[in-house]
Amino acid sequence: MDVALKIWRFDPQTGERELKQYEVDAPEWACLLDVLDIVKDQVDGTLAYRKSCRMMICGSCGMRVDGGAVLACKERMKPYADAGHVPVVSAMGNLPVLKDLVVDMDPFWSKMRAMKPWLEPGYREPEEGKEFHVSEAEVNVISKESLCINCGCCVSECNSMESDPEFLGPAALAKGMRFVGDARDQQAVERLESYNSEHGIWDCTRCYFCQERCPKGVDPRDAIAKLGAESIKYGIDRDMGAKHAKWFVTSAKTTGWLRETELVPKTQGVVSSIKEMKFAMSLARRGKVPPPVPPHVAKDVKEARALYNIVKSQGVHGAAGIVQGEKALSRIEFIEEQAKREGGTE
Ligand code: SF4
Ligand code: SF4
Ligand code: FES
Repeated sequence: MDVALKIWRFDPQTGERELKQYEVDAPEWACLLDVLDIVKDQVDGTLAYRKSCRMMICGSCGMRVDGGAVLACKERMKPYADAGHVPVVSAMGNLPVLKDLVVDMDPFWSKMRAMKPWLEPGYREPEEGKEFHVSEAEVNVISKESLCINCGCCVSECNSMESDPEFLGPAALAKGMRFVGDARDQQAVERLESYNSEHGIWDCTRCYFCQERCPKGVDPRDAIAKLGAESIKYGIDRDMGAKHAKWFVTSAKTTGWLRETELVPKTQGVVSSIKEMKFAMSLARRGKVPPPVPPHVAKDVKEARALYNIVKSQGVHGAAGIVQGEKALSRIEFIEEQAKREGGTE
């Protein structure tokens, strides 16, 4: 097949950037990495990019296609060729570009190191025999996080990191959850204390771009949510983000709606509320503040309360609660899809 693509080249010697178009003949099964190899072999040997395994496992070949991060060895080129679209290939975002499609991964690795990505089992001895026994339910809490291949695609698309390069970021925090949630690890509280500091978990804007772009299904945003839930479970709730999360729960179980008018006084205190009064008044004048009395109560709030009470009585707190919720949602989706399929075959 005929494949055309544009590549943002960067020459570190001159500091110049240039968008260059290449057209090559490639087999129909070719992925982006194969096409880059053909360009390098047959057209321009100076093109720089990283690769190793060619099978989506080493994490070396992260780059952007049309502005979104992908693994070059996972991205099929046939759909582009069939559509007559010329994709624009560039280096990953949020990391300094060294040459063409090669980025400096040092900031990525230093954040990974800050997570202390190794087990700290303490001096605990296995209870019986020679091994620690970890149940399936315990493994489920970190099964997605364990799939990370350190490719950096999530970091490339992270909104928070773009505005604050010091933000720990989705990859490092997913790695953090992999160890916080490990039943054998004895340092969960110490780890959570450090992830709750400045540039930590509560600085995530929940844009979900990391989740959308991760090629391995790690779901880093979910990992950050689990770290938040674990922090609150251990009473680490000094950050404003944690206080907001707790107020969301209180709102949901009392009225079924987020009681925004009470959010600032309940989480930031009276002094902050007075400072925000002028802003609140201007919102009220534009009809954007619902009257606090009588409280707006959702029609099915009893269901929300019953659900809260069931989950509470089961004692499934923190990350385990999130995993239980994910499983319940996927079961509902499965049943709905099955019903649609059966409806369609009748
Ligand atoms: S959800 Fe959070 S961590 Fe993920 S990309 Fe958005 S800001 Fe970054
Ligand atoms: S979380 Fe996903 S996108 Fe991020 S580094 Fe790991 S595998 Fe890559
Ligand atoms: S070359 Fe290893 S993940 Fe693409």
